[in-house]
Amino acid sequence: MEKRALDIQAAGAWLRTAKAVLVFTGAGISAESGIPTFRGDEGVWDNFPTRGFSTWPGLLLSIISRPQSVADFLARFIEPIANAEPNCAHRAIFLLQQQSNAVIVTQNVDGLQQLAGSLNVTELHGSLFITRSFSISSRKQISRTEMRELVKGLKRVSEDKLGVRGFVRAICPLWGLNGLMPHWPDVILFGQRLPRQAWNSAFSAAKHCDCMLVVGTSGVVFPASLLPKIARSNGAKIIGIGPEKPNCDLWLAGNAVEILPTLVSTAFGLAEGH
Ligand code: OAD
Repeated sequence: MEKRALDIQAAGAWLRTAKAVLVFTGAGISAESGIPTFRGDEGVWDNFPTRGFSTWPGLLLSIISRPQSVADFLARFIEPIANAEPNCAHRAIFLLQQQSNAVIVTQNVDGLQQLAGSLNVTELHGSLFITRSFSISSRKQISRTEMRELVKGLKRVSEDKLGVRGFVRAICPLWGLNGLMPHWPDVILFGQRLPRQAWNSAFSAAKHCDCMLVVGTSGVVFPASLLPKIARSNGAKIIGIGPEKPNCDLWLAGNAVEILPTLVSTAFGLAEGH
């Protein structure tokens, strides 16, 4: 039997016999759904440097000084997410959750794991589909249709070379000054604390799991990057999935869509494509 098949069998046995499984995902799991990753060739941060586009002070300054670039950035970031469908890697994780009661923690803001059917997904970096204001009770779900309308408005800002006012009009009524209250997407930018409840759940799951599946993440963003280390230091076995080797006990090299369906069906004796 070739090494890949042997490794998948070994990982499958770990998943099957584990008492507590934690699945930790990053942008790579959504790559085949058409959403670019953040780092690497053609990554989001390759075209839009983090300093101007991924901190609140940087973003606000950029809106004032170059609103068309921010509109272009947001349109390019949001459009693939607004149009994406879950892929077979998301669906395999949903199946894994059903079979093993796995806890799912994601760094993604795309909502695709939930669209694949998963409940109780801890979103460490928030969600693009929630807007919020100062109070927690102001959180509101927004639809993919609203998101697509927003993208149309953002595209007009860069195509028609509109200024700050045009930008502000484009993001209303979802974001910005909507009534008297400012609203903004409930996503975490660099320099912000993670939502306390999400971090506590993720930390506790990492501490108590005995098998952790790390899928499609470069593992460079703190504090999410601590989770595999916490799990490992508490004796969990770490299975890494992705083209680049993460710090793990067993690396299944390749794309999530190729590996996860086989892994989950091997682990639980299911027909593939179940
Ligand atoms: P990155 O873009 O840093 O890493 C994506 C990882 O997915 C890399 O290791 C790729 O090799 C891998 N990958 C690419 N295609 C894949 C595929 N088809 N299947 C499996 N793996 C694949 O994305 P994240 O690690 O998610 O945070 O980034 C972490 C955080 O950095 C994001 O949540 C975001 C970003 O800045 C904030 O915005 C706060």
